[in-house]
Amino acid sequence: MTPKDNERLTRVTGDAPMARMLRENYWIPFARSESLAAAAPPQRVRLLGHDLVAWRAEDGTLGLMDEHCPHRRASMALARVEGCKLRCIYHGWQMDEAGRVTEVPSEGERSALFASRVKVDRRLVREGGGLLWAFLGQDEPPELPPLPFMDVSAEGRWWSRMTVKCNWLQGFEGALDSVHLNWLHQGWAEPGKEKFLLDAPSYEIGETPYGLRTAAIRSAGEPGKVHFRVAEFVAPFYAFSASRQPVIPTDCSCFISVPIDDETHMLFFGFWDGTGKLSDISRFFSGLDPDDLLKGDYTRDNNWGQDREAMAKGHFSGFTASVLHEDLGVQASMGPIVDRSLETLCGTDLAVVRMRAYLLDMLAHQDAGDGVDGALDGYRTSGFLPFSYVAPEGADWRDGGQRMLGAEV
Ligand code: FES
Ligand SMILES: [Fe+2]
Repeated sequence: MTPKDNERLTRVTGDAPMARMLRENYWIPFARSESLAAAAPPQRVRLLGHDLVAWRAEDGTLGLMDEHCPHRRASMALARVEGCKLRCIYHGWQMDEAGRVTEVPSEGERSALFASRVKVDRRLVREGGGLLWAFLGQDEPPELPPLPFMDVSAEGRWWSRMTVKCNWLQGFEGALDSVHLNWLHQGWAEPGKEKFLLDAPSYEIGETPYGLRTAAIRSAGEPGKVHFRVAEFVAPFYAFSASRQPVIPTDCSCFISVPIDDETHMLFFGFWDGTGKLSDISRFFSGLDPDDLLKGDYTRDNNWGQDREAMAKGHFSGFTASVLHEDLGVQASMGPIVDRSLETLCGTDLAVVRMRAYLLDMLAHQDAGDGVDGALDGYRTSGFLPFSYVAPEGADWRDGGQRMLGAEV
C-alpha cells in the first residue's frame, strides 16, 4: 500500500475524502440505547472529529447537538435536562431537541425574539437495533441501515462498546482477519468447538454490491467433508461473523468500527440470534462495563495491560480480561495510524487486502461524482448472513448460507 492510499483510508476528519463519505452518506452508531436514559445527564459523543452531546428528554425524545453552547461555548455536557429541554448552566439559555433556542433569560422581554434568531448546531439522531445513531451530513439522510440485527427483539441481541486509541481501520481489519482467532484468541475457544477449526484455512473472496463475502475453507476432519466459514463485510464499517457457529447454529456476531477521530475509534461488538433467543455470553465479558469495555489504564507504558505472569502460567496472549482486550493490545500496539507501506503481507491477509481495495474504490467513485449507497440498498436486496458449517467435498460455499431477508438459497 502506498502512503497516499494509507492516508485516504485512514483520515476521517475535516475535509478528508473518507470523512466526507462517512459524514454525508451514512448513519453512524455512537452508543447503546440503554446507555442514555430519559432525563439522564447529557452524554459526550465524538464522531469524525466533531464533539457533540446526546441527551434524552423526559418524554424519551432524543437530541444531538454540538457540544458547545451557541452563546459563549460552555460545554453542554454540563447542562441540565429540564423536562423536554436542555439548559446551559452558564447563563441559562434553554434549547430543544429540534435545535431551537427557547429561552435567553438575560434578554428579558426580548428573549423570544432574540432566541428565534439563534441557530443551534444540532444533528439528526435515531434509535434502532439497540443502538443510537447519528447522521452528520448536510442533505436528507437515508433510512436507518437494513442490517439483520435491527429487527431482532431485545432478548435476541447483545451489544458492547469500547474505545480504542488507534485509527478505525486497524481495528476493523481485525474483524476480517479470521486467522488471528487461531493464535491471539486461542485461550477463548468455545468448549466443544471442533478441533479442525484451528487448522490454517484457504480463502476465497466474493465481491457483492454491498462489500465482500469472505470464505475460510478447511478440511472438516472427516473424509469427504469440507468446512466453510463465511463472513460478510458490509461497507463502510460493518463485519458479520459466525463466531459461535456451528456449535450454536443461529448465532451471529457483528463488529462495527466507528471513527472517533484520526487516531481513535470505537468498536461496537455484539451478538444476535434471529430466533430471538440469544445464548448466554456472560462468561466472555463478566464484570466489564458494556458501554466502556476497556475501562482502565491501557497504554504503551504498561503494554496495554498484558500480564506476563498469566503467560507464565499458560495463558497464550497475557490479555486475560476478555477476547476484545487481546484485540485492543495488538491493534493499539501498531501505533495511532499504522504505516501500511511497511507491512509484509501473506496469503491469509487476502480478505484485509480486498477490503482495503474495496474502500479505495468507493473513494475513487466518490471523487468521480458517483453516488454512495448510504442506505445500504445493496445489502437490503442481496445481503447474506454469516455462516459456518460442514458440507460435502466439492460443494460451493457461494451456494450456502441464508439471505439476509430469510430466503433460502
Ligand atoms: S455559555 Fe451557555 S448560556 Fe452562556
Ligand atoms: Fe480479534
